[in-house]
Amino acid sequence: MDLSSLDLQRIPVHVAVVMDGNGRWAQRRGLPRTDGHAAGEEALMDTIWGALDAGIRWLTVYAFSTENWKRPVDEVRFLMNFNERLLLTRRDELNERNVKLQFIGRRDWRVPKRILRRIDETLELTGDNTAMTVSMAFNYGGRAELVDAVRAIAASGIKPEKIDEKTIRQHLYDPTMPDPELMVRTSGEYRMSNFLMWEMAYSELVFTDVLWPDFRRENLYAAIDEYQRRDRRFGGLSDTDGLG
Ligand code: IPE
Ligand code: IPE
Ligand code: MG
Repeated sequence: MDLSSLDLQRIPVHVAVVMDGNGRWAQRRGLPRTDGHAAGEEALMDTIWGALDAGIRWLTVYAFSTENWKRPVDEVRFLMNFNERLLLTRRDELNERNVKLQFIGRRDWRVPKRILRRIDETLELTGDNTAMTVSMAFNYGGRAELVDAVRAIAASGIKPEKIDEKTIRQHLYDPTMPDPELMVRTSGEYRMSNFLMWEMAYSELVFTDVLWPDFRRENLYAAIDEYQRRDRRFGGLSDTDGLG
């Protein structure tokens, strides 16, 4: 699928991606699981550039979940170092193309201080960029995000009867981030795995069997094509219903 087959007037503003299947990609080749994570870098970069070319304004990728700490320490350590290196080696080219790179997730004691520093530096470097915002969901959990929001709301002393959906949104990790219209998950798993629980209330979900390291911009465009065929109703009736 290429860009010219899409309706460019209806490109989603925000696409969220669960980058899954790295381990299986490696295992099928008789390689250690961590080689699969490493191979995912090319998939990520091609997806970022493809999203930028399509005019997507927000791209959020699931890089490390609050549940991924359950993995063997060696794999966790690899993922920490891998994400740090990715940040360091890619932030300049992202910056040159006017892409803002930010992290959403919980800044707890488990994340090495060094990585938190790199994250802050990266935001400093790219924070004013306007072409697209890439959010790496790192030590991210949808429930943790809601717990953190509830804590902040309680600490602010706001009266319970004043709390509404807008209050909750204002306390999410990035209050300016619009809800994703589309979520893509690779590797043939049909679940959310605690990704963007609040934000995906009405997202269109597209699943593909492609394993993350094999994912390229064409796969992103195929997912957008599927999205463009969907009838989004938000609990109401479709645009064409009741009009004729
Ligand atoms: C996704 O690939 C990357 C992360 C969760 C960090 P996996 O490592 O989950 O790969 P599979 O699902 O075991 O194949
Ligand atoms: C979701 O994938 C998290 C990331 C892609 C970072 P997992 O592989 O951790 O999800 P489960 O365990 O299959 O639900
Ligand atoms: Mg997985």
